Amino acid sequence: MVFAVGLASPGAVPGSVKIARLAITRPSLAWPVSSFTAPPEAAWKSSLIDGGKSVAHFTLGIETSCDETSAAVVEDGRLILSNVIFSQIDLHARYGGVVPEIASRRHLEVVVLVIEEALRQSGVARSNLDLIAVTYGPGLVGPLLVGVSLAKALAYGLERPLIGVNHLEGHIFANFLAEKGGSSADWGWAAKPSNSGGTDSPWPLICLVASGGHSDIIYMTEPGEYELLGKTRDDAAGEAFDKVARLMGLGYPGGPLIDRLAQEGNAGAVPLPRAHLGEGSLDFSFSGLKTAVWHYLQGPGRGAALADLAASFQLAVADALVEKTLAAASQRGVKRVLLAGGVAANSALRRLLTERAARQGITVSYPPPLLCTDNGAMIAGAGFYAWRRGERSSLELNAVPNLVLGDRRQSAV
Ligand code: KG4
Ligand code: ZN
Repeated sequence: MVFAVGLASPGAVPGSVKIARLAITRPSLAWPVSSFTAPPEAAWKSSLIDGGKSVAHFTLGIETSCDETSAAVVEDGRLILSNVIFSQIDLHARYGGVVPEIASRRHLEVVVLVIEEALRQSGVARSNLDLIAVTYGPGLVGPLLVGVSLAKALAYGLERPLIGVNHLEGHIFANFLAEKGGSSADWGWAAKPSNSGGTDSPWPLICLVASGGHSDIIYMTEPGEYELLGKTRDDAAGEAFDKVARLMGLGYPGGPLIDRLAQEGNAGAVPLPRAHLGEGSLDFSFSGLKTAVWHYLQGPGRGAALADLAASFQLAVADALVEKTLAAASQRGVKRVLLAGGVAANSALRRLLTERAARQGITVSYPPPLLCTDNGAMIAGAGFYAWRRGERSSLELNAVPNLVLGDRRQSAV
């Protein structure tokens, strides 16, 4: 299989690289498969179990839930050694959204190559991997199955433990990743996700997960403990960005395009509605906003600058997300808020949340933009900490397209 050479958008995170093409030519994809015995925990790094730290622990994270094929090697759950993200955006852009069947096929074509590239860049030999982490839901079933099947084969062949990771948990744990030669304190707080007490403990906290499929407000008392406080009643925030970008003729995916265009616009130029869903509700609704944009584009105002419309729409979404997130923080009396998911890359959301939270004495943290969108490093990070707190998956692991955060029944051994 040959893919043309090309390296694009290296991104701001050392170790992370977003690519549109792969330069690897390797006709035979021979994974070592030896006879499988019991899960090799006993003979394995005890340092991970007792929390001691004598040897580095390497997790391979695999992400194929939607239109990004990604693999990463992460040391001790936090340090990104490599993070290769193969984007399928070009493939789906002409359809205005992700076509599941096409996505599955492309994942199949590139996933092994992406993993090999991630291993190569990390300098970690396949035999030195300690844990295989893979997204098993939520997401598109075909794409999920590609990653899950390969992760199971790898775990079996290398005789390493397997851990199924919830994609949303991965997004949350992107906040705790650290870059090579840097510190996560650059974009988050220095506390480790395992800290659960003391003055530097990040828990409890509120996390807003805003992506193409979710707009969830989550209360976390400690890693792995999630309480859903609010969610969207119709479109997810990212979905609203994508649909409005399509209405405006901007292309796909809409979020980054609207974000860029909005930089030149006046966010006060186009009056757009905010949904009111009842006293104390932490839910969202974006369909009315989307319809308002449609009406605006049909009406006499359509001659106005698209940049103004983009800025006004973006502010309306950010405003709703920030208002409910901070209301959740007040309701629960927490002083820390995390952003996660693709929409967390949005510049207006980051700015608005940081400004308003500061007035309430709340600390805000979000990953760098490249780690907000789907990537393998976040899956490795979440997988490492799930494994460390005792979660396990068996080779029976299956894709669960509608997986709920905190539901471990289907991944448990
Ligand atoms: O988390 P993600 O990569 O995939 C899902 O899990 O869905 O999120 C993708 C979504 C898309 O809807 C995309 O338009 C949106 O995140 N997105 C953004 C930005 N970057 C990506 N939305 C607003 N502003 C951005 N800068
Ligand atoms: Zn995602």
